[in-house]
Order: sequence, then structure tokens, then C-alpha cells
Amino acid sequence: MTVDAIKTVAVLGAGTMGNGIAHVFARSGYTVILRDVEPRFLDRGLETIDKNLDREIKKGKLAEADRATVLARLQPVTDMKAIAAADFVVEAVPEKLEIKRAVLQEADGILRPDAILASNTSSIAITTLAALTRRPDRFVGMHFMNPVPVMVLVEVIRALQTSDATFDTTLRLAEKLGKKPVAVNDAPGFVSNRVLMPLINEAAYAVLEGVATVEAVDAVMKMGMNHPMGPLELADFIGLDVCVDILHVLQDGLGDPKYRACPLLKKYVAAGWLGRKSGRGFYSYSQEKP
Ligand SMILES: NC(=O)c1ccc[n+]([C@@H]2O[C@H](COP(=O)([O-])OP(=O)(O)OC[C@H]3O[C@@H](n4cnc5c(N)ncnc54)[C@H](O)[C@@H]3O)[C@@H](O)[C@H]2O)c1
Repeated sequence: MTVDAIKTVAVLGAGTMGNGIAHVFARSGYTVILRDVEPRFLDRGLETIDKNLDREIKKGKLAEADRATVLARLQPVTDMKAIAAADFVVEAVPEKLEIKRAVLQEADGILRPDAILASNTSSIAITTLAALTRRPDRFVGMHFMNPVPVMVLVEVIRALQTSDATFDTTLRLAEKLGKKPVAVNDAPGFVSNRVLMPLINEAAYAVLEGVATVEAVDAVMKMGMNHPMGPLELADFIGLDVCVDILHVLQDGLGDPKYRACPLLKKYVAAGWLGRKSGRGFYSYSQEKP
């Protein structure tokens, strides 16, 4: 599959990442089949896309006249068979191997043999996912960042089995979306989480050990290292449960105790303090409007 042959894309999952991925493909002129398991999840995803298009129009990034054209390119479906028309598929269902296995194997059985299957997983090995399908050479990692319409990076991850042609097409496709792809080999956490999670973990240890307050740790990293967000603020944004899960993947996959999740992170997760999404994490968000 060459990049120019790709006209129709399917996105599996219309959640946080799926609706963002569908948004950027539709805005770049692709027909997008957006699949989720229930109409209410599709409605929620389409509502978010509409809101985010609004924001782009207000910022002058999109003409009001183009809004209807972009929305018309989106085809919400619950029936997986509808993805048969897709040339390229991005899977963005929950980060559970069993869910991904079921979804990827079903999609694999429906897609044309030449279609490329990509996963947006944050931490599951692309080599493992590729091996679940009958198209391991046409399987690749395409790791978009949240929020997808805003963030320019796409980590393109090469499984052991990924062919040169599939990898090249995926890099070029990311460029056609206006993104900056970075080529990475498959390894636990890829580059993004391999480097970010130990930073967040160490920031949590600094708080646990009383080296500084949450605000002081973030202030040092923002003002001293020019980070736009402090690591603890970012951890709240990602979700502390997600951070702990990824640290476990790093520790299991790399076998190095340096990735051991900080007990403070684990305690917050046990308390249900998951960050922004639960209203409390390192910071409190209860005063903020949803
Ligand atoms: N949230 C992030 O910041 C982020 C960043 C990068 C990558 N990721 C990865 O992206 C993937 C999706 O994460 P998310 O945050 O969008 O999750 P989410 O829970 O917001 O969305 C997942 C969606 O998948 C749907 N779904 C469940 N089973 C399905 C099925 N069988 N077929 C189709 N849809 C199904 C759910 O209904 C839900 O709408 C995960 O692999 C995650 O690791 C997330």
C-alpha cells in the first residue's frame, strides 16, 4: 500500500484518542470510518470533534465553510464489517491486551489483504500485537499524542515484523496529516514513555521524600528546564493510574528495578486520586468546570 493509494481510513474506538485521530484524518481530506461498540460512544466522539473544529475555526486554522465538508467525511459505525472499505486502520481501543486482541483479529479478518493495520497503544509491544494478526508485515505502531489535533508528534513504531514498505507508508501518512513522525523501534514504552515516566516517577519520589512541595517540583522544571508543564501537572493530565500501568510495563519489559512505581503514585491511585479525570491527583480540580 503506497501512501497515495490511501483514501479511506478506519479508526477503531471513538474515545479520547480515537476521536482526535478521526478529526485529523478528516481534516486532511480522508474519508474516515469511525467505529465504536455503541452509538452513544460515537455520538460523544462526534460531539468532541465538532467542539474541537469550532476551536480551530476560532483560532483561524480552519475556514467555517470547511466545517461541513470535514464532518461529512466521517462515517460513524458500530458494525465492524463496515471497515472493509478501509485502506489504513488505526486501532485506539482501551489499553487491555484482551480487548486489543479481539478487535485486531476481527478487523484483520475483514480488511483487504493489502490494508495496513496500525495500533495507537501507549505501551503494549507492537511486535506482540503484530503476531496476533495474519498481516504482521503490514502492522505498525502509530502513537499519536493527546490532544491529537494539537500535538505534532507521531511516534511511528516498527515491530520486528513490519516491512520497509509499511513503515515508509506510515511515516509519509503522518506527514500528510501535518504531523512530524519520528521513527522508533519496538521496545517497552517506546521513546516517549521510556523517558517521560521515569521523570514523573522521580518527581513523585522528590515529593514523597519531602525534598520539595508539588508546586515547587513543577516550578523548578517549568522555569529551570523550560518545560511547558511540570511533571506532576502532566501526570495528573495523563492519569496517575495510566502512569503506574506504564511503569509496570517498563519494569516487567526491561527487568530493571529503576522503573519501580513510586509508592506515592500507587497510594494516590488506591485512593482514587487519578488526576484531572477524578478531580484530584497531585492537584485539586474540584473548583474547575468540567
Ligand atoms: N489518552 C491518552 O493520553 C493516550 C495517549 C496516547 C495513546 N493512548 C492509547 O490510545 C488507546 C485508546 O486510549 P483512549 O485514552 O482513547 O481510551 P478511551 O477509553 O478514551 O477510548 C477507548 C474507546 O474504545 C471503545 N471501544 C471499546 N471496545 C471497543 C471495540 N471492541 N471496538 C471499538 N471500540 C471499542 C470505547 O467504547 C471507547 O470509546 C489506548 O491504547 C491508549 O494506551 C492514549
